Amino acid sequence: MLGTSKQDEQPRLPMQGIPQPKREEVLNLPRVHISNHPVMAHKMTLLRNKNTPTPQFYQLVHEIGALLAYEATASLSLEKISIETPLQPTIGHRLAGGIGITPILRAGLGLAEGFRQVIPDIQVWHLGLKRDERTLQALEYYNQLPHQVDMQVVYAVDPMLATGGSAIDAINILKRRGIPRISYIGIIAAPYGLLKLAQAHPDIDIYVAALDESLNDLGYIVPGLGDAGDRQFGTF
Ligand code: PRP
Ligand code: URA
Repeated sequence: MLGTSKQDEQPRLPMQGIPQPKREEVLNLPRVHISNHPVMAHKMTLLRNKNTPTPQFYQLVHEIGALLAYEATASLSLEKISIETPLQPTIGHRLAGGIGITPILRAGLGLAEGFRQVIPDIQVWHLGLKRDERTLQALEYYNQLPHQVDMQVVYAVDPMLATGGSAIDAINILKRRGIPRISYIGIIAAPYGLLKLAQAHPDIDIYVAALDESLNDLGYIVPGLGDAGDRQFGTF
């Protein structure tokens, strides 16, 4: 076409030229919790390593899910109950109200399994969202959210918070079910997605194992760990 150079015909990459906040600008956002536990840092390095094979990667996602569950449940409410030990009656505690977890398919599955190792007595509500790699928009393809939702809290879990599109949509879907308290649990956040999620849903807590530098032009987190779904399920 007249006036169109070959360069103009190249399709633009989805994050090309889009301004991104720096890491320091989002470090202290309200309700954002970034793990600083040394065991987490150790496991994260194994997870990021491109030479970590799929079975070990999946195992590490479980272990990180368990550590994140421990951090994210620290503020849950308790109720008192009477029990008897082998020696005498005493007062103990149990978690007040039900707990739900929504793994965002498919990469959220391993993280949800790790969470269940810490709190087995939870409801699991599967939600399938797939990011269109050309537009980076998330598309819903599966929804197993129940109609009865009398939970103390629901955790949306997904390892990668990149542009934030999938997480924002997942929380919107949970809010439409009338869930009073929602938290997000992820492994790695990019500053761009973290800021978008915190701005779209300032009423939720966000727990991540690490905050990385940025998104590349394709919308992948760097340094990141690559594609969390492919690495968990061996679909390269
Ligand atoms: C990945 C990841 C998140 C999403 C993050 O999933 O697990 O769900 O991308 O990107 P965003 O913050 O830009 O929305 P993907 O859609 O690739 O699906 P998968 O889990 O099936 O691999
Ligand atoms: N999804 C992934 O699996 N990895 C990224 O870096 C971004 C989105």
